[in-house]
Amino acid sequence: MRTESGQIFRLEDYKPSAYLIPGIALDFALDADETLVTARLRVERAENAPDNAPLELDGDALTLEALRINGADAPVSSYEATPDKLTIRKLPEEREFELTIVTRVLPSSNTTLMGLYVSSGVFCTQCEAEGFRRITYFLDRPDILSVYTVRMEADRKAAPLLLSNGNPVESGALENGRHFAVWHDPFPKPSYLFALVAGDLGVVTDSFTTASGREVSLGIYVEHGKEERAAYAMDALKRSMRWDEERFGREYDLDVFNIVAVSDFNMGAMENKGLNVFNDKYVLADAETATDVDFANIEAIIAHEYFHNWTGNRITCRDWFQLCLKEGLTVFRDHEFSADERSRAVKRIGEVRALRAHQFPEDQGPLAHPVRPRRYREINNFYTATVYEKGSEVVRMLRTILGEEAFRAGMDLYFERHDGQAVTIEDFLKAFEDASGRDLTQFALWYHQAGTPNVALSSRYDAEAKTLTVEIEQSVPPTPSESRKRLMHIPLAFGLVGPEGEDLAYESAEGAVVENGVIHLRKRRHTIVFKGVNARPVFSVNRGFSAPVTLCSEGRTADRLFLARHDSDPFSRWQALTTLFTDTLIAASKAVRGGKEPAFADDLVQLGLDLAADATLEEAFRALVLTLPSEADVAREIGHDIDPDAIHTARRALLETIARAGRETFGDLYEGLHDNAPFSPDARSAGRRALRNTLLEYLVLGEGTPQAARRQFDDADNMTERAGALTILAQYFHDTEDGRAALAAFEERYRDTPLVLDKWLQIQAMIPSEGAVSLVRSLMEHPHFSLANPNRVRALIGTFSMANQTAFHSADGEGYRLVADTVLALDGQNPQVAARLATAFRSWRSLDKGRREHARALLADMAGRENLSRDLADILERTLA
Ligand code: ARG
Ligand code: ZN
Repeated sequence: MRTESGQIFRLEDYKPSAYLIPGIALDFALDADETLVTARLRVERAENAPDNAPLELDGDALTLEALRINGADAPVSSYEATPDKLTIRKLPEEREFELTIVTRVLPSSNTTLMGLYVSSGVFCTQCEAEGFRRITYFLDRPDILSVYTVRMEADRKAAPLLLSNGNPVESGALENGRHFAVWHDPFPKPSYLFALVAGDLGVVTDSFTTASGREVSLGIYVEHGKEERAAYAMDALKRSMRWDEERFGREYDLDVFNIVAVSDFNMGAMENKGLNVFNDKYVLADAETATDVDFANIEAIIAHEYFHNWTGNRITCRDWFQLCLKEGLTVFRDHEFSADERSRAVKRIGEVRALRAHQFPEDQGPLAHPVRPRRYREINNFYTATVYEKGSEVVRMLRTILGEEAFRAGMDLYFERHDGQAVTIEDFLKAFEDASGRDLTQFALWYHQAGTPNVALSSRYDAEAKTLTVEIEQSVPPTPSESRKRLMHIPLAFGLVGPEGEDLAYESAEGAVVENGVIHLRKRRHTIVFKGVNARPVFSVNRGFSAPVTLCSEGRTADRLFLARHDSDPFSRWQALTTLFTDTLIAASKAVRGGKEPAFADDLVQLGLDLAADATLEEAFRALVLTLPSEADVAREIGHDIDPDAIHTARRALLETIARAGRETFGDLYEGLHDNAPFSPDARSAGRRALRNTLLEYLVLGEGTPQAARRQFDDADNMTERAGALTILAQYFHDTEDGRAALAAFEERYRDTPLVLDKWLQIQAMIPSEGAVSLVRSLMEHPHFSLANPNRVRALIGTFSMANQTAFHSADGEGYRLVADTVLALDGQNPQVAARLATAFRSWRSLDKGRREHARALLADMAGRENLSRDLADILERTLA
């Protein structure tokens, strides 16, 4: 196997830069084929830096056109320029000097979507993490903070709009139909937050008055004709701005805040100072084209990027190892925002489902890494569920441990102390230690140690002594390059649920620190004795998912059935039910594999029906109750020697069992949920639609005919119901007239709406049939599919690899081959997206032998290719290691 010799970056090697760049003036002569960039850098030798240290500036695929030092052409012998580095050896004696660097870049042939590129005729940039070095030579690292002045000139017709960070300063006409604009950002910022946008776009404007009375002009820029689809994003933006003032005391700081939606984007969105650039998927929405999930994502991502203005921009990362400093914290903040705007319980369940689906397999496989990694070869590969979602869980635990008040005090101190700085996780934690007087040394392991801790638990009640004795033990499984783990501080929220469902009081608890309903697990083993407990309770633990751990408690089915009906914490009710469903699906898969019929307990099925019909519960919660663990969820719990076909068969059998048992109830419920009110994206209405869609699947399965789905598909006045019905038709009736007709009608209706066509691709990518691989291959030939657009690739190939378990893991290896072919085809043009797609293979070792062999062979074949990108080589090597 070919080994990649790329440089490895290590946290312990961090050194402050010998040079600083307090100011930069950029001048762009924009032209799609060839853009000239003139950068004037004010360079300063850092204190204590040796006088003769060469200045090494980062580049990536750059061509140097000119270099001037203090205005004079630099002698050729004084520097050395390659596409990825500019080294200047002879520098002026003075501590401060000016460098002028002229580079030539090629926006329209830039397929990596990093640096300056063109998307649907619009110039835009993506600089995080290391894209600025594709624009000019620079100290492209986040601890170099500079004040930016940006001048752009372009053809006035092609690009009437010229935007950059900060506030607009000046603009005007030039000769030859060109024009210019100058922007100035007074806040020193790292290069990854630089952005420009130039093009011809429509706009929605609004304004926001901050708490202290500053008037901010808001603009959301979208393709002409799509302005109305930006209304919801604007509303979400204003709510985010208000919320950050109220919950965190954070005000906006510039005169303008602009958002631009582009159709070719590697990730979700980017928080460039004053000029957020978004994947248009996370801006555009209306009833006709967006589902409720899309609306909720838009709200969350608009908030996320806005919140970065303080957690990321005003206070940024010292180096990329600290990525979670801004991402984990900002995800936590956007989660809290959505929880406040919607249903907190439902939001929390959604977060935990996503964490288990994306972060747990990462943490339990070859790509596991700490929330704050210690080494990387390619930083783009660390924009992961661990850094983001587990990073957010760690901040949530911090709040649980400190309590709301001390947590807020810590945040306030962090903002006060570090505004304008590039800092580390240690700085972050120190603010909380100082504000609360607590020692967070053991807690900090959550940042440093990879792996999902296991917590094993058992309890027994002594009726005579009136004591509940709980035994808890923690262990952290080994992960790549970390075989020995230290003991963690695990905060477990809990309750003693009494016979009537009430939380029982107790007189005292001994054996661990127990405060405010939280057990602080800090040693390997704790035996906790609750005294003065007057009735036998059911122990409810990890309420609200207070710690991101796997819980292994003694399997008392009766207790779980009880908690699912009675726990005062809605998360725990859902968890109890989910555990029961998962366990029964694991048993059923085993039965199927052994050639037996799967069987399901009546009381579990009845519990599902009762909760679904319980009108005292929110509809969105009831929809979650009826949503069985996914095939991937079950596979993850089985953990080794997985046979996806058996899981699929077992799950299908449970769906049908519930469908038959609930036929009447579900029919009535479904009809009763219909309302004639005009579409509204609010959480309550969305919950009703979610429940209707969930019920529809059971109705169709119970009846064995597509009629109900066909009716909903035809009558729907919104995308949630239309796509929901189409999903069911495609899953179960794709080879019937109804299925084919609905798919064709959908395609016809949305042929020219790419974001909706993505749903059409996605829905078909999930069809679990024999012909799945060839269907996906044929869809790749569709005139509107393109490897150049990340949204298309994710919709079709990403969905196939993540949500079509039987086809991706098809026993003949053809599913793996499809994904591998796509990864290789993509790597030459967009390494970031190719590498991300390749992570679909991360759990390959947990499959059964035949599948494992297919995966290994393909991975080894890919890894052996010449000219792999650093991104892809890194993922493949770690996956195979
Ligand atoms: N900072 C962005 C966010 O809000 C993500 C950008 C990552 N982009 C990349 N090319 N790695 O989460
Ligand atoms: Zn972010």
